[in-house]
Amino acid sequence: MTTVSKEIRGEIAIITVDNPPVNALSHSVRQGLSDHLTDLATNDSVKAIVIACAGRTFIAGADIREFGSPPKAPHLGEVVDQIEAMAKPVVAALHGTTLGGGLEVALSCHYRVADPRAKVGLPEVKLGLLPGAGGTQRLPRIAGPANALDAIVSGRHIAAKEALNWGVIDTIADGDLLDAAIALAEEKISDGPRRTGDMKIDASKYDQAFFDGFRKQVAKQTRGYYAPERCIQCVEAAVKLPLAEGLKRERELFMDCMANPQSRALQHVFFAERQVSRIPGISKETPRRNIQRVGIIGAGTMGGGIAMNFANAGIPVTILELKQDALEHGLKVVRGNYERSMKRGKLTQDQVDGRMAQFTGTLKYEDLGDCDLIIEAVFEKMSIKKDVFAKLDQVAKEGAILASNTSYLDIDEIAAATKRPGDVIGLHFFSPANVMRLLEIVRAEKTSLDVLATCVDLAKKIRKVGVVAGVCHGFIGNRMLSPYGREASLNVIEGCRPDEVDAALYNFGMPMGPMTMSDMAGLDIGYMSRKERGREAYETRAYDWTDRVVEAGRKGLKVGAGIYDYDEGSRVPKPSAFVQTIIEEESAKLGIVRKSKSADEIVERSMMALINEGAKILGEGHAYRASDIDIVYINGYGFPPYRGGPMYYADSLGLKAVYEKICAFQKEAPRWWEPAPLLEKLANEGKSFADFDRENAR
Ligand code: 3HC
Ligand code: NAI
Repeated sequence: MTTVSKEIRGEIAIITVDNPPVNALSHSVRQGLSDHLTDLATNDSVKAIVIACAGRTFIAGADIREFGSPPKAPHLGEVVDQIEAMAKPVVAALHGTTLGGGLEVALSCHYRVADPRAKVGLPEVKLGLLPGAGGTQRLPRIAGPANALDAIVSGRHIAAKEALNWGVIDTIADGDLLDAAIALAEEKISDGPRRTGDMKIDASKYDQAFFDGFRKQVAKQTRGYYAPERCIQCVEAAVKLPLAEGLKRERELFMDCMANPQSRALQHVFFAERQVSRIPGISKETPRRNIQRVGIIGAGTMGGGIAMNFANAGIPVTILELKQDALEHGLKVVRGNYERSMKRGKLTQDQVDGRMAQFTGTLKYEDLGDCDLIIEAVFEKMSIKKDVFAKLDQVAKEGAILASNTSYLDIDEIAAATKRPGDVIGLHFFSPANVMRLLEIVRAEKTSLDVLATCVDLAKKIRKVGVVAGVCHGFIGNRMLSPYGREASLNVIEGCRPDEVDAALYNFGMPMGPMTMSDMAGLDIGYMSRKERGREAYETRAYDWTDRVVEAGRKGLKVGAGIYDYDEGSRVPKPSAFVQTIIEEESAKLGIVRKSKSADEIVERSMMALINEGAKILGEGHAYRASDIDIVYINGYGFPPYRGGPMYYADSLGLKAVYEKICAFQKEAPRWWEPAPLLEKLANEGKSFADFDRENAR
């Protein structure tokens, strides 16, 4: 197969890259581009060149699959230099997503024309890298250092119109893209090349204060990441140095990022995210059900947010509540959310009205009769869930999918309340449901394959990352959260202050520590669930102090006091002397001699707990892949993506070391540190979770 072809139309040569699915710059593409350019340089009948792409997009970047193997010439930097140095004008014709190395190719072309729906961007930072083929030097020259910093450090996609304002695109095609590119090439024959590398930046406007101001502005979202600071240093180099020296600096910093473990971890996340929708037994041929209207039961915290996802995707929603005032309140919250987005400039008034027009409220189950999918989000109590599903069985049309948003309950038992268990599935959204990307798709014992396939597709449609989980207490994420929370709580009772535990895990990269998280979620929820379930022996030790905190009326942030104190109207946690006294009394009661622990010890206990539970879930077949578990934890619980997720993190520590550590913990506390059999097996065989995924590739 020829990946790069050439056609000559009069005085214009058209080079077309055809390397599905996204025209990544594999070796054959770089070679093909270079060979055709060499050829055309000496072809006197050709006066200008167009570079275009077949398929769904212009080049979407370097070929990530080639990272890690020895680079093969011609390198992208050389191809890009070759394009820029051409003596005849070169025009790039952009459509789809021109990303990374693709935009670097485009910036080295002398002129650019784009389809109106095209997007451009330099997303390398998301892979722990920086644009390594001149992007950090050419974009500041063409779009200015401020726009370049924005694009390179965020990695965001930039719409054609914005790119036009920045000067990255010369013109937006009105009609056929290739015709427009040929017309532009013809027009530029007389002007000749315009080289981005020759453009000058007025350095006086971009002093140290400018860059330090930018560093401050992005500090929060780049915390813990290695690449963003190197991206900023590259743009500083673009301002201060001539092109050749800037390119040299870019190369050094690119190699530096490539050698950093964060880059491998982020590449793992990129591919893991694309793996989740591969489900054994499901193919393109598996039938899907048509989802044109969705019903939601319960307009509380979750129901409203879940409904918004469908309204945003243009799918109308019928939302059912017990009482009119609860329904009105739920819809008011939804409208409030949309209006806040409007105030931030993300939606127009028309869009807010359009989304609200997708909602129909009702108090009658019969009104759900025309829904193709009905998601229940009522109180977390089995008797209520069963009652709701029995009613749905009466009113739902044949073939409707019946889903539960339960956090922990047994979906098989819920399904048994209906005469159509094949239509029942778990769709576990995360709070706030309109914001959080994760969706656990819980496959129950009798869930039929077409129902599962429909939900996997639907996740994409509503812009979620849908990970399939099996039925077990808490599915993947909440099941792992439980031992993680237990260890945090035990660390406190054994000698740490709550803020020490939080600081250790925050500095590891979690968005907040477990104590702050518990205060935010409300301590009373766990308290009530413990009282309901009956306290298991291990929990007695871990949670007695938290129970006393709740019993003192300190339910968390919502009442201004929990594990921490809060000043009136503030969300900033402050250590509480009152709670510290409770903790120390409880330690004494248990005969524990309180001992301080290092941050590393605190993190280790929590991480080992996550990994061991993850390995149990995987071994029991409640997750298809270790990498699926990574995606759950990154997208649902804020695990730092640059550490690749808990299972990838375990691999990076080495499973033998992880297993030995857990065995050591087991000696101290045998009840809750039983090593997962799969972990033991892999450790003994000298294997990793990645090996497990490869060997069980589905
Ligand atoms: N290299 C190799 N494979 C790639 C790829 C790349 N750059 N980009 C996408 N793919 C693959 C995906 O793995 C997927 O393969 P699969 O079907 O076997 O799972 C397939 O292409 C389709 O990708 P998506 O499922 O993501 O398709 P979408 O249509 O949802 O998205 C996209 C398309 C926006 C291009 C998205 O794939 C994307 O963001 N890709 C990454 C772009 C990127 O990061 N580019 C920079 C690379 S680094 C670089 O260029 C370094 C340079 O500066 C030197
Ligand atoms: P909520 O208490 O905020 O809302 C529940 C709503 O359901 C209330 O408005 C109530 O009036 C309504 N309701 C109760 N019984 C009903 C019935 N029989 N028919 C119609 N409406 C009924 O609860 P929340 O937090 O939204 O939780 C709902 C479900 O989502 C639970 O199963 C919970 O475990 C799960 N969940 C909650 C998350 C959270 O963070 N709050 C996260 C993920 C899942």
